[in-house]
Amino acid sequence: MKKILITGGAGFIGSHVVRRFVNNYPDYHIVNLDKLTYAGNLANLSDIEDKPNYSFVKIDITDASAINQLFGRENFDAVIHLAAESHVDRSITDPTAFVMTNVIGTVNLLNAAREYWKDDYSNKRFYHISTDEVYGALGETGMFTETTAYDPHSPYSASKASSDHFVRAYHDTYGIDCVISNCSNNYGSHHFPEKLIPLAINNIKNNKPVPIYGKGENVRDWLWVEDHARAIDVIFHQAKAGETYNIGGHNEWKNIDLIHLLCKIMDDKLGREAGTSAKLITFVTDRAGHDLRYAIDSTKLQKELGWTPSLQFEEGLEKTVDWYLVNEEWLNNVTSGNYQSYYDKQYNGR
Ligand code: NAD
Ligand code: TYD
Repeated sequence: MKKILITGGAGFIGSHVVRRFVNNYPDYHIVNLDKLTYAGNLANLSDIEDKPNYSFVKIDITDASAINQLFGRENFDAVIHLAAESHVDRSITDPTAFVMTNVIGTVNLLNAAREYWKDDYSNKRFYHISTDEVYGALGETGMFTETTAYDPHSPYSASKASSDHFVRAYHDTYGIDCVISNCSNNYGSHHFPEKLIPLAINNIKNNKPVPIYGKGENVRDWLWVEDHARAIDVIFHQAKAGETYNIGGHNEWKNIDLIHLLCKIMDDKLGREAGTSAKLITFVTDRAGHDLRYAIDSTKLQKELGWTPSLQFEEGLEKTVDWYLVNEEWLNNVTSGNYQSYYDKQYNGR
């Protein structure tokens, strides 16, 4: 039986990865490590929490001694590392939290892997989940490939770029089997409503203004989160040590066009007259250092490992809206408490 540590498993993408591995690999034991920050929610995993091949530990990855104790206790075969501070706007307000978790936390995990696996690095794997944002911003044309030079602009992307460099350094210096993937923007169920799509769904549902930064001209390449989890599965099992793969949806949308599509879906689902939700669109002050465009070339992953995205965006977005409308309690829970003060500070200048 393989024992796999998945960090950040209570978050958006991590919960989909944990669910997939627990359900698809009954001969693996999955240990989900999470600090349970505002973004971590064990309710995301209520459907698998009683499975015999799943367990949870509440640990902060900035706590090196807790990480070392865990590695000393459990004989991990592999790490899939997703735990991170993940929201660009929060990184603009508080960059240090991003350095601590994304850089120091990653190095703490790498140090533990180095220490506890050093007798035999074969059959071990450290898989680091990263973002396309490390490559910086594109103009109107071009795509990021695995050889695009790193050029991060936000404190979030700078911290992820730094963590990627450390992972490669530990592979090159100590010979740890490391793999990295850089993915485009994900969407789907269990997405915390500070990010564009779930925030807009929540606001439209509640007849609140939908804030669009600048003129809404920025472009993102959206991927269904379950397609990302499947890509992680494929890369984890098939990639050669030291490899990097880009993961993307070949699905570029200007923010304003995406929000208009979302408004149309929401009008249909909520039985509102066509055009009602679009009236909520409100242009607000642009994000500082706002990257114009991201687009991923995932040819390497498609050609070498045979992965392709499964869902068309319109279908995925509709499924996502359905999930949020059905799971009202989840949405109400995560938007109670500190959410309102974050929202007021970010959008209402209070
Ligand atoms: P998320 O914010 O939804 O979840 C992050 C999880 O990490 C939470 O459960 C949180 O509690 C946990 N965490 C945060 N700090 C921690 C700490 N110090 N110790 C232990 N746990 C901690 O993020 P997400 O969107 O699911 O992103 C997961 C990973 O994927 C991140 O590494 C992110 O950079 C990367 N990524 C995200 C996207 C995207 O579109 N969301 C795209 C590409 C890559
Ligand atoms: P976001 O979901 O925060 O992801 P990222 O910044 O990592 O790409 O934002 C997606 C896009 O939507 C990005 O161009 C910023 C924009 N955006 C808004 O226009 N309004 C908002 O309230 C938010 C959160 C984002």
